[in-house]
Amino acid sequence: MSNQHSAIGLFDSGIGGLSVLKQFVRFLPGENFIYLGDTARVPYGNKSRQTVIEYSKQCTNFLLNQDVKLIVVACNTASSVALDVVQEMSSVPVIGMITPAARAAILATQNSKIGIIGTRATVTSRAHQDEIHSLAGDREIEVFAKSCPLFVPLVEEGMLHHNVTRQIAEEYLGEFEAHGIDTLVLGCTHYPLLRQLIGEILPNVELIDPGELAAIKAIRLLAENGLLADDAKIIGNQPNADFYVTDIPDTFFDIANIFLGFPVRKPQKVDLE
Ligand code: DGL
Repeated sequence: MSNQHSAIGLFDSGIGGLSVLKQFVRFLPGENFIYLGDTARVPYGNKSRQTVIEYSKQCTNFLLNQDVKLIVVACNTASSVALDVVQEMSSVPVIGMITPAARAAILATQNSKIGIIGTRATVTSRAHQDEIHSLAGDREIEVFAKSCPLFVPLVEEGMLHHNVTRQIAEEYLGEFEAHGIDTLVLGCTHYPLLRQLIGEILPNVELIDPGELAAIKAIRLLAENGLLADDAKIIGNQPNADFYVTDIPDTFFDIANIFLGFPVRKPQKVDLE
């Protein structure tokens, strides 16, 4: 049985969810974390709904077996198509990436024109569009969604400031200028790493990072359920995270060490099937 001392469990298709973990560590520094990256089966973004649901169920089972107190579906693709399934099978609270981002985008937009970028599976699912329209009620909001599949490999290759990445970003994002959006949801774990570049291409657009909003939501959710770690633990602690991956852990370990900015423990390889 989980309690307030249990870890927060996050899962993603691979390394991308580290951008979400980073936000959780920032806002909840006294918590323990378990991060599962399904590196053997990444990417989820071009797989069928049924496959992503199946993988998400396996990731959730793994985290539940670790007695986590909260499950964070860090992957936007999994959040788009499998959140209800994860919620149904979980005895603990679950947070996905869609609702926190949709809520923040509605609050941020002044002209009621919101852009969404994500993987093909995320955009096809229409999860953001549906959530924005449902949360906005009678307020009319136009939502423009576009999949940007090349961003994921470019980020994984570390080409964050490369000319090629800029050209591709200009190609992808040009249409948002024509639509006149003033708010853009970075609806994929990898996109916050391109925040600076995207901001340069769309300088007057507010960028929404779902991981940041989900971390803020987690504080409230944990507090409401009496599950926040003790205050004493929160002050001045080194982040405490265990990592699990489904394929050889070396690359993941190197990237996690650089990206998270604190010394991480060696990931363990696990089999989810
Ligand atoms: N983590 C995925 C997401 O946030 C991106 C990578 C993938 O396609 O698996 O949608």
